[in-house]
Amino acid sequence: MTETTDFTPGLEGVVAVETEIAEPDREGGVLRYRGVDIEELVGRYPYEHVWGLLVDDDLDSAMPQPEPYEPARLTGNAPADLQAETARLGGQWQLGKLNEISDAQAREDLGRLSSQMMGIVARSARLADGVTEPVPDDVVRRGSTAAEKFLLQWRGEADPRAVKAIDTYWICTAEHGLNASTFTARVTASTGADCAAALSSAVGALSGPLHGGAPAYVKPMLEDVAAMGDPEKWVVETLDSGKRIMGFGHRVYRAEDPRSRILKRTARELGSPQIEIAEQLEDAALAELERRHPERPLKTNVEYYSALVLDVAEIPPPLAPAMFACSRVAGWSAHILEQKRTGRLFRPSARYVGPSARPLSSLG
Ligand code: COA
Repeated sequence: MTETTDFTPGLEGVVAVETEIAEPDREGGVLRYRGVDIEELVGRYPYEHVWGLLVDDDLDSAMPQPEPYEPARLTGNAPADLQAETARLGGQWQLGKLNEISDAQAREDLGRLSSQMMGIVARSARLADGVTEPVPDDVVRRGSTAAEKFLLQWRGEADPRAVKAIDTYWICTAEHGLNASTFTARVTASTGADCAAALSSAVGALSGPLHGGAPAYVKPMLEDVAAMGDPEKWVVETLDSGKRIMGFGHRVYRAEDPRSRILKRTARELGSPQIEIAEQLEDAALAELERRHPERPLKTNVEYYSALVLDVAEIPPPLAPAMFACSRVAGWSAHILEQKRTGRLFRPSARYVGPSARPLSSLG
């Protein structure tokens, strides 16, 4: 019997795996994928090659083209559709169990699934827009990048600004170490389940508002601030009432979140109509948070400018978690493969704190 260690709620600070994929550098405010700073990737390589870097450690490799596939029964609720359809693909494609297939086969399954998952989100978003007819395959195939294909499959057209917004957002959020959904993917993979089961369970974990949904709150907040016309006053009143300012603070980073820096630049370049008010609110919030929490740096996080970039592409706020899932297929796939190659079945312990032994009659 292995010795148990102290209980740490939420496993914060507990090292559960060793990884070669990425880990946020909390003090330096840098995020590197396989050692490469994401600043160097954005604008140089499209998302699908960043997928190749993360999964294969090779920028010449890429997520494959999606193959023709007809989702079974979409509802228009993208995270639920994505989770259900991804699990269904395991059966449809008769995927092998991770502990019975080769690494090369697992890599192939993950590639097929990843590109199909983007298609499922696009089709679900199209249905949410009230359109049931799919866009013809030859139109989708005209897209030269994954982001362009995604928009074509959703709307039948792809505005270049929207393509750039989505590509940048996907690259910035493709991987971020052992967060809740990635951990979930690894736990499922560690049981030897197939790749579709591992990816669909990750989607379930991501669908919760504490993980994937914060950009949805930023846009209405900026509208409030604009309506009031006084960001400093808005910040003071919000903090005095005990509320948090969405898009600030981070569990890991103590310096500026590097993804926020890139997304801010992108929002400006793409002419986001909310960039001015966002920058005014950011200045006011950073100053006041610093004054109130001198002991703890509370900087702008990824969600703040993500909201503006997604807005440029006219992504409705409720679709934000599914957009996040599209980007994370790269990180999840890389972790599922790493788990298969180097990992061990997860079986943590729980400390029992329930009633001590008692007779059934005592419940009567
Ligand atoms: N606005 C105002 N105060 C904040 C704050 C924010 N965005 N983030 C943290 N704080 C304050 C807390 O009120 C707390 O103050 P207290 O000690 O006086 O109670 C202190 O900073 C520490 O907060 P804590 O929740 O322990 O920090 P954390 O590092 O665990 O939390 C977040 C990280 C992201 C959950 C937190 O910063 C937050 O809620 N941010 C807003 C939501 C958000 O942007 N989410 C997206 C994350 S990518």
